[in-house]
Amino acid sequence: MHSHSTTHEAALIGLGAMGVALARAAATKGRRIIVWNRTSAKAAPLEAAGVTVAASVAAAVAASPVVIVCVTDYPATRSLLESVELAGKTLVQLSTGTPQEARELAAWATARGARYLDGAILAVPSQIGGPHANIMTAGAPEAFAAAQALLADMGAVRFAGEPPGAAAALDFGVLASLFGALLGFYHGARLMESEGLPVDSFGELMAATAPAIGEMIRIDADAIHHGRYEAPEASLEICWRSMELLGRHAREAAIDVSFPDFAAAMFQRGMAAGLGQEAPAAMIKVLRAGSAAKGAGR
Ligand SMILES: NC(=O)c1ccc[n+]([C@@H]2O[C@H](COP(=O)([O-])OP(=O)(O)OC[C@H]3O[C@@H](n4cnc5c(N)ncnc54)[C@H](OP(=O)(O)O)[C@@H]3O)[C@@H](O)[C@H]2O)c1
Repeated sequence: MHSHSTTHEAALIGLGAMGVALARAAATKGRRIIVWNRTSAKAAPLEAAGVTVAASVAAAVAASPVVIVCVTDYPATRSLLESVELAGKTLVQLSTGTPQEARELAAWATARGARYLDGAILAVPSQIGGPHANIMTAGAPEAFAAAQALLADMGAVRFAGEPPGAAAALDFGVLASLFGALLGFYHGARLMESEGLPVDSFGELMAATAPAIGEMIRIDADAIHHGRYEAPEASLEICWRSMELLGRHAREAAIDVSFPDFAAAMFQRGMAAGLGQEAPAAMIKVLRAGSAAKGAGR
């Protein structure tokens, strides 16, 4: 079923693991979408489910007022849209990229007469369409208005404001928090193994404590936002001592020391800066002092 009509609500470009999940969520909710993928075989299951498959990117874009792109990265997005007529379209970028890439694509799309919405998906494909799929967006408010209902069929959509880099910045903040926590979890899992304890029970414990950890993060964010680090419930020194102890345990148990040594060294920098009695969030001062790139200290 190929179509060059302008009768679709949205075009979805890119049918990798995430693109397929987005297309299925939209189609399941009854959206009239048209899809395209470089490797056409990936569109076959969607076509069998009644979704329109375009013969080219240009045909998909021409058929829809809203164009959603979910491919590997921004350079791939640009190469796909380079010679496509975008004037009057709402372009929604859901591929992962840096805030700078988002700003550049916003300028590029706007110069071609499109309204631009940058998006970041904070979920894995199996979560798309469900309550745990957060989709962060930023950019032109009119573009958000045009795409909001459609994106809401794919996840819990939030608008972070007009600066086009805002969604990517929040995405990267989440990624840093997530993978920092996961690396700690992997060390914890190895620790359980070395103590002969079941890792699945440890995972259950972490899931149960997740809301409390989330609250600690929120309190730390508040401290950084207001610049208040005095009279903490637990000091930066306590964090440093805990990581030192974790390193001692790793050596006693003869397991990998990478994670505790990294964490202890970071808190050690806070100790060396005289921040031991302040809140752990005072680590932000160490990071500000260590900033090497443009915008250091902001
Ligand atoms: N998977 C996740 O859990 C997840 C979560 C959040 C965000 N994301 C983001 O979503 C985006 C897509 O991820 P994914 O998991 O769907 O990746 P994927 O399964 O590797 O699929 C990549 C997609 O990009 C297309 N592509 C790559 N380079 C291209 C090019 N030069 N020209 C045309 N098409 C090109 C591929 O087309 P072919 O099929 O022809 O190769 C495919 O459709 C990424 O930016 C990723 O960071 C993914």
